[in-house]
Amino acid sequence: MSITTALMRMFGLRYPIIQAPMANAAGGDLAREVARAGGLGMIGTGSRATPAWLEGEWSKLEGAGPVGVGFMTWALDRMAEQRHLLTHALGLKPAAVLLSFGDPRPYIPAIRAAGAKVICQVQTVADAELAASAGADLLVAQGTEAGGHTGQVSTLPLLAAVLRAVADVPVAAAGGIADGRALAGAIAMGACGAMLGTRFVATPESLYHPQAKERILRASETDTELTPVFDLVQGIPWPAQYRGRALVNDFTQRWHGREEALKANLEQARQAYEAARREADFRTLAVYAGQSVGQITAIAPAAELVRQIGEEAITLLRR
Ligand SMILES: Cc1cc2nc3c(=O)[nH]c(=O)nc-3n(C[C@H](O)[C@H](O)[C@H](O)COP(=O)(O)O)c2cc1C
Repeated sequence: MSITTALMRMFGLRYPIIQAPMANAAGGDLAREVARAGGLGMIGTGSRATPAWLEGEWSKLEGAGPVGVGFMTWALDRMAEQRHLLTHALGLKPAAVLLSFGDPRPYIPAIRAAGAKVICQVQTVADAELAASAGADLLVAQGTEAGGHTGQVSTLPLLAAVLRAVADVPVAAAGGIADGRALAGAIAMGACGAMLGTRFVATPESLYHPQAKERILRASETDTELTPVFDLVQGIPWPAQYRGRALVNDFTQRWHGREEALKANLEQARQAYEAARREADFRTLAVYAGQSVGQITAIAPAAELVRQIGEEAITLLRR
């Protein structure tokens, strides 16, 4: 029995795996290796990415399969530079554009007109219904286990509810999926595949600092916190319903749950954060990672992970 899902057919993939578009972690090297191995590669743009940066990362894709680009919808709404970056990205002819964290409707027509598939990552059933009715080609239901910014509902109940609510658009799962077992589980529920972020941070190809990757290898599943403190200290205006899941460190221990005190001491905290950035000191700096960190004990090449996770899922589903 061979396994083919709507996600695999849409992009001509060997495995039902999307590598998440992670700001500051997913550039051209990671996307290329995932795409070459038969998954969907993605380049992540943070709120400070520029056309020159994106073009540099895109130039690393030589010989890759399908690759897309991810955007944060709230940043497109608020920043003219981000809308310019989206126009620039569409000129590169990506296989897909992923929109997450906000209302995707203003951006869907231009993405479709450029010939790219529209992937909407959603955190609630209402947002899934909105994105489906607006013409998304694919939804990703993102549970709160996920690394990086996310919502409040866990992957299992969110995926089940989105699959029930949206019958005519394929749905992939994200959040807490880092091996073939979890991928097979999502597919058994009816998902067309999964989007993995945290597992792909711990690869030689990710842009994360080696010390940040080291921290991921050492962390257990209880070592993350869903927190707004890293956005507050960096002055990144994330809408309140999305907080970032990151490894617990000295900074979260000092400020998480004490956001008012952080706001009252913002200038001092900001200076300390910038000093930590200069020294690459991850006792203070954010290491975004999800609850699957506990399963990640080694750095592994991204292409190897795609094959291993994909084959394990196929074997389990056949059984
Ligand atoms: C380091 C990191 C950065 C992320 N940055 C983004 C981002 O820029 N845009 C986005 O839509 N999602 C981002 N995410 C979330 C992913 O899209 C995805 O939902 C998540 O990684 C899936 O859960 P997992 O981390 O448990 O695999 C990020 C995740 C991580 C771990």
